Amino acid sequence: MNDAERQKFYRNVILDDETIKEIEQVIDADKRKTYKEWGLDNSNGLLLYGPPGTGKTTLAKQIAKLNGYGFLHESGSRFVEKYVGVGPKRMEGLFYKAKKMSRENGNMPVIVFIDEIDSIGCKRTEETNKEITNTLNQLFVELDGFDSNSNIITIAATNRFDILDEALVRPGRFDKKVKVGLPKQREREALFKLFGSKIKKKSKLPYRKFAEMSKGLSGADIELVIREATMRAIDSNKDKLTPSDVYAIIEKKTGKKKKIENKRIGYRIESVSAE
Ligand SMILES: Nc1ncnc2c1ncn2[C@@H]1O[C@H](COP(=O)(O)OP(=O)(O)OP(=O)(O)O)[C@@H](O)[C@H]1O
Ligand SMILES: [Mg+2]
Repeated sequence: MNDAERQKFYRNVILDDETIKEIEQVIDADKRKTYKEWGLDNSNGLLLYGPPGTGKTTLAKQIAKLNGYGFLHESGSRFVEKYVGVGPKRMEGLFYKAKKMSRENGNMPVIVFIDEIDSIGCKRTEETNKEITNTLNQLFVELDGFDSNSNIITIAATNRFDILDEALVRPGRFDKKVKVGLPKQREREALFKLFGSKIKKKSKLPYRKFAEMSKGLSGADIELVIREATMRAIDSNKDKLTPSDVYAIIEKKTGKKKKIENKRIGYRIESVSAE
């Protein structure tokens, strides 16, 4: 990616520098070329994991817009069917389509994105539904079938890394695992700016201050803060969004989070209340 492409790419998905660096090691065409020149195999499997609402799906949507790549998208839950054999067939079909797309476009790299991979990739037990096991096995067949020069890049996302089957995360399958964590101060400020800039009627907003107050909130939480704050301004017959509307909602949200944390409930439940 050149500077202009990079700027455009990260305008809608806010990530910290470390995460960006790791992701680009897989998706940046120039970097992939350089690795090859040095004799390195390219990573063809990228697993994005982290708490809900941190931008994993948003990132994949941006990747889909990258020039020079094909992109296919499927959600893990779509493989879980009540009819036997549909899941594995669908998985096989997905990769067949990817290979065909690549071949028909002069070996163009094609990204296969499987969102919410935990629906098929959870640890297998005796009770695991056979259909899920077979679908996962089919994914392994597909992943193992590519050599390092393959043009198919598989990206998967989950907010439940802890429940994934070890066979899925072992080296050689999803080689590259990148945590998309909760935004830090700098990223929160950028997220407030991103969502705040969409509001047409507003006074000058102290984005940095908002970021300082909102530790622990995800990108999705921040999007909702701006939305609810704007509704608050409208409901109280103001003619524009003001900082105090945003402060009020941030306090409400972070207060709620703190209360839940004190009850020692994990982030999954916390996020339900935040979404
Ligand atoms: N890092 C981010 N950059 C830009 N927007 C973000 C970011 N994180 C969250 N958002 C906003 O929050 C919404 C939800 O984010 P997204 O669906 O990408 O989260 P996710 O990490 O995939 O969550 P889940 O694990 O629940 O699937 C998006 O529509 C986007 O507007
Ligand atoms: Mg998602």
